[in-house]
Amino acid sequence: MTARIDDPGGSMSRTPFAPDALLFGGDYNPEQWPRETWREDIALMRRAKVNTVTLGVFSWALLEPREGEFDTAWLDEIVALLDEAGIGFFLATPTASPPPWFALAHPDAMPVDPSGTRLSHGSRDTYAISAPAYRAASRRIARVLGERYGAHPRLRGWHIHNEYGTLDFGPHAARAFRAWLRTRYANLDALNDAWCTAFWSQRYGAWDEILPPRATQYLHNPAQALDFRRFSSDEMLAAFEEQKQEIARTGSTAPVTTNLMLPAWNHLEQWSWAEAQDVVSLDHYLDTEGPDGEAHTAYGCDLARSWSGGPWVLMEQNARGIRVGDRTFAKAPDRMIRNSLGYIARGSQSSLFFQWRAGAGGSEQWHGALVPRAGGDSAGFAPVVQLGEMLERLSEVVSVPDDGPIVDARVGIVWHADGWWALETPHLPNDAITYSEEVRATHRSMWRAGIATDFVRPGSDASRYRLLLVPALYAMSTETAEWLGAYARGGGRLVVTCPSGLADEHLRIPDGPHPGLLRDLIGAGSDEILSLARGEKVTIDGGLAGEGWIERVEATDARVVARYVDGRLAGGAAITEAARGSGSVVAVTARLTQDARDAFLAGEARRAGAGPTVVGASALGVEAVRRRGARSDYLFLLHHGAAPVRVAGDGPDLVSGRDAAGGIDLAAGAVAVVRVPRGGDVAVAAADEVAT
Ligand code: GLA
Repeated sequence: MTARIDDPGGSMSRTPFAPDALLFGGDYNPEQWPRETWREDIALMRRAKVNTVTLGVFSWALLEPREGEFDTAWLDEIVALLDEAGIGFFLATPTASPPPWFALAHPDAMPVDPSGTRLSHGSRDTYAISAPAYRAASRRIARVLGERYGAHPRLRGWHIHNEYGTLDFGPHAARAFRAWLRTRYANLDALNDAWCTAFWSQRYGAWDEILPPRATQYLHNPAQALDFRRFSSDEMLAAFEEQKQEIARTGSTAPVTTNLMLPAWNHLEQWSWAEAQDVVSLDHYLDTEGPDGEAHTAYGCDLARSWSGGPWVLMEQNARGIRVGDRTFAKAPDRMIRNSLGYIARGSQSSLFFQWRAGAGGSEQWHGALVPRAGGDSAGFAPVVQLGEMLERLSEVVSVPDDGPIVDARVGIVWHADGWWALETPHLPNDAITYSEEVRATHRSMWRAGIATDFVRPGSDASRYRLLLVPALYAMSTETAEWLGAYARGGGRLVVTCPSGLADEHLRIPDGPHPGLLRDLIGAGSDEILSLARGEKVTIDGGLAGEGWIERVEATDARVVARYVDGRLAGGAAITEAARGSGSVVAVTARLTQDARDAFLAGEARRAGAGPTVVGASALGVEAVRRRGARSDYLFLLHHGAAPVRVAGDGPDLVSGRDAAGGIDLAAGAVAVVRVPRGGDVAVAAADEVAT
């Protein structure tokens, strides 16, 4: 860990996390089993070439059986067994799951839901993040673990907590929220103005009158709701920082992380969380059993890499199951392997899983695991061994380039948690439009076109991107609007899609045409937003279509590039373009269907000079990703399609060990990783079309 690299997406630099090998393994909870099973576990880990486990995520009740009394003997034993086998470990602080004694001794430290119900122990994540007793107990156990294991040579890093995200609406939260608001607004006049409390007689005359957005008779004040989300993220971050400092005080220098989560967990403002971590880690679970899961994997990876500004750690995935709604679908072994390589292609230094062994009981006993119930000699364990061997062959890809990003993306998508939280406030023109789906649909279009994409922090240096996309950033500050303008004037091509820039950072809507924050930059404005009914579509020039949201737009200082062909706005502008400085700004004020978005954004990328990683690969169902290493590039080819393809390139395929120079056939579902000289290329063609 020597080189420092610039963060292409954010505004910071970080020492890249560069372990000696790709990390393979997962959450290991040995406390559920007798000692004989521990020995079998270690033997199976060696067989599968597991080199990393995560210990202690939910071990608080064993580590501190009574308040202030610690028992680390069992953990010492496990750590010794792992050490003997040469296996490294992340050590978690167990603060996501306080023991029953804690809840009984400190009932005020249990979270309160919006309706005022104080939750009881009996599950996990039962803590009120602002409760002093919880914070003190968290610091104490972090210190105990830091002192005992912080210098262990096999310690790969600290895994603080687990998926921060319990919101609390109780008295401790109310007190801390008020303190946060005082820092933000300094005086009540400013707060009343920002929250527009003149509406519905909500004016606050004293700080103590302000509450978290608890259950109320009708709609909450949206600015209050948004500020509460911001506060909750900051408050959890402060708790994380306290544990981090406690560990640092013990002298431990192992890198610190906490696992962020996708797809639905949206309780944290990830850019500031990433800044506080030595390495960003992500838990990723597919949200569909269908083919869109591959696009979702890429989406999670590109977010994690961008938040990190470099390599990152995939901390959890499911080895065998895909949970969707009320049932679990099987994840085929070849998909498990392709997904694992997909994470690594996009910058992960690991393929880690939740969890090592299928649970003995408890709430997640049916969750998939690396070791199935049928055991290590079953057919179900064979793909795990196969993956372990494959990752060992791929190990050289962990090296991090010191001359640029790990994935060289020229398209950026602006991302901020405020956008997600803002669109969750109710009574917008169309509440069915969500930030996560708008951003994901945009990323999906780039993924389908095979174009590498980063996510971009508002205000960061975006000059490396030829195309900057701004989906559904409903609320933004004037600084963000100015930053977007500077990007365009500096020569970039900016594409703003609805509903972006309608409200300021306090969710106030400026007077005049929409979008108030961006209309001068766009050179067009609308005086009316029309929601379309579910299933209703409008046709737009160029074979495009819109659904859900359209606007009556007048172009004042922009050219109309596409108009509505039918519907109530027939003849009106749907897409405009304005020249700004040496760049341009495109505004799409109709919500495009996915097909239309794919066609339109692929055209924009082409025009901006941002092409696919491997020309023609996507059309054959092959996801191609170039991961840059210290000396070579690695072209990852993940074949999600149905028919075999032939790959040719100037280098060896590290998966099969064969030279790709003469062409190698890749069966449906298979993967190849071709090491090519820096900037070298591969060609992918349908196998039956290549002359042999
Ligand atoms: C999360 C948690 C794990 C486990 C898995 C189940 O990622 O961190 O403890 O609950 O989900 O999918």
